[in-house]
Amino acid sequence: MKGAFITATGTGVGKTWLASALATACVQRGKRVAAIKPIETGVDPDPLDALALARACGNESLAHAEGLYRAREPLAPCAIELRGGPGVGSLRAITKRIRELGKDADYTIVEGVGGVLVPLDRERTIADLAAQLDLQTVLVARNALGVLSYTLTAVEALRRRKVSVRAIVLNHVERGSRDDLSRTSNADVLASYLPRIPILRVPRVQSPNGMVDAATELFNTLKI
Ligand SMILES: Nc1ncnc2c1ncn2[C@@H]1O[C@H](COP(=O)(O)OP(=O)(O)O)[C@@H](O)[C@H]1O
Ligand SMILES: [Mg+2]
Repeated sequence: MKGAFITATGTGVGKTWLASALATACVQRGKRVAAIKPIETGVDPDPLDALALARACGNESLAHAEGLYRAREPLAPCAIELRGGPGVGSLRAITKRIRELGKDADYTIVEGVGGVLVPLDRERTIADLAAQLDLQTVLVARNALGVLSYTLTAVEALRRRKVSVRAIVLNHVERGSRDDLSRTSNADVLASYLPRIPILRVPRVQSPNGMVDAATELFNTLKI
């Protein structure tokens, strides 16, 4: 299976937008893409992330495919299970399902959930799914003050689980952060700590379509 796993330093940093833009970039190149959100919570009633991804690759049914984890409460899967809700089950089964859904696609793009160590159950985190999937892992981070520590922490946590980060995307999420001086140096500082990982910057945009150029650059960087 060729493709990318999109994870992040946390929630709300741009995974869905970037994954959608990456799917669009692939479609524009005439590739068949399956963009999947295998684990989604806060589904009330629709899996909004999964739908955005599925629409970007022109196959809305992907969002509603059987065998994916969906839960209503906006919580980590481990917290949902502790409250008596559904458990995520075996990562092997989820991986198998993703492979099936991507079998006719040239590229499979998988969006994680929250940050890199979101607990799926009492033992496993989303990083364990990244390790199982063995796609090219992309780490999205907010290009704002604080991102240096968040990013270095996430990269170390992934490395400990034998997941190497293939690209870091510094995403300009915040409105009105023109005064955030860190934005001018974050990429350079990260590059000196992580010299082997390409670092891409995504500007503030109006919609995921505004990120397609950056996503095309990511596509070329990953050589997926
Ligand atoms: N480059 C950007 N420019 C402007 N707004 C952005 C950008 N990236 C993300 N956003 C905003 O942040 C929100 C969260 O992004 P999303 O991709 O849903 O994050 P995640 O999937 O990591 O939770 C989006 O709904 C959008 O409002
Ligand atoms: Mg998302």
